[in-house]
Amino acid sequence: MSKPDFDEIIDRVGTHSQKWDGMEKYYGVSPEDGIAMWVADMDFRPPTCVQRALEDMVAQGIYGYWGGDDEYRAAIQWWMRERHGWEIEPDWIFTTHGLVNGTALCVDAYTDPGDAVVLMTPVYHAFARVIRAAGREVRECPLKLVDGRYEMDLDAWDGLMTGAEKMLVLCSPHNPGGRVWTRAELEATAAFAKRHGLVLVSDEIHHDIVMPGETHIPMANAAPDLPLVMMTATTKTFNIAGTHTGNVIISDPDLRARFATRMSALGISPNSFGIAMATAAYSPEGAAWVDELNAYLDENRRIFDQGVAEIPGLHSMPLEATYLAWVDFSGTGMEPEEYKSRVLKDAKIAVNFGATFGAGGEKFLRFNLATPRARVREAVDRLQAAFSDLQ
Ligand SMILES: Cc1ncc(COP(=O)(O)O)c(C=O)c1O
Repeated sequence: MSKPDFDEIIDRVGTHSQKWDGMEKYYGVSPEDGIAMWVADMDFRPPTCVQRALEDMVAQGIYGYWGGDDEYRAAIQWWMRERHGWEIEPDWIFTTHGLVNGTALCVDAYTDPGDAVVLMTPVYHAFARVIRAAGREVRECPLKLVDGRYEMDLDAWDGLMTGAEKMLVLCSPHNPGGRVWTRAELEATAAFAKRHGLVLVSDEIHHDIVMPGETHIPMANAAPDLPLVMMTATTKTFNIAGTHTGNVIISDPDLRARFATRMSALGISPNSFGIAMATAAYSPEGAAWVDELNAYLDENRRIFDQGVAEIPGLHSMPLEATYLAWVDFSGTGMEPEEYKSRVLKDAKIAVNFGATFGAGGEKFLRFNLATPRARVREAVDRLQAAFSDLQ
């Protein structure tokens, strides 16, 4: 494998990139001189093995119905064993149109209109969107800020349960807090789901992007006896989110049958491009690329955190996983409109607003660090200039 060049600046403007082509519309930041640090995709090409899979399809040039997914299932099985120490069976796997779709299907399969779904907030915003759109309630359980990072507050959350809750969506590792949950935290979450009769859905889409020294534990390994739904994907890991291909992995026969019924009722079947790219990605070449990627992101995180720490009142949560920095602006004493305006208009950086992640996110902004290092440095310089009066 040739060494990936994550420093290469690849112009994505005008390529239907949501992150770059949507920044003006959503944030008023021009892509001409702005930096896109919002949507969670990366400004890097995937590994060569993934590109090759697509090139082979293009070279043949016929794009008919896909058949025969043994190789794809075996590749997922291999990856989960090799990278996560998790044993799965090929027939536990469903291929959805990504994990927002996977979450929505779980809502459909395991809850009824009027039921509530538990979220530990702040958390990835699309969970609440699909839950509410399906006529279910969101039960927000606020994470606790302890020494500048998030911890669960399960004893307090017991008191928030009303009996209407039927499902819990866990984000592991956590977006936007960057936490890799410990075994004890995962076990406590499983016990919480059990005592409240909740179907536990563990979204582990960020499980491969874990910083050196941290180990992600699949919920299925932390709670081997609990029937649950596991969700993973190649899309974040390999930067192929446009393929909209996700793995929903269910070992429990009853939960699996209910999920299969919804898939069938909605006529969901996989996309050939996503399957081909995912099969190629889950390989030794893909694994070596992910190791290089994580080392690169670790250095981006170090540079960003150090630069942000030099601005009085700003605190970037220590990232244990993901490439999404979660920055607390509460120490500036400014109202959100003030610091948002400085970031968007003065620094010209498009970021996600914390309030969209639910209760507890209001004083935060989320910065995507999966971009060439020169851009991360530039973003730090611009932030320091935009808040220079605080020095
Ligand atoms: C926790 C989490 N789940 C799901 C997704 C998106 O999944 P997909 O693109 O497969 O629908 C994201 C994207 O940022 C995410 O952070």
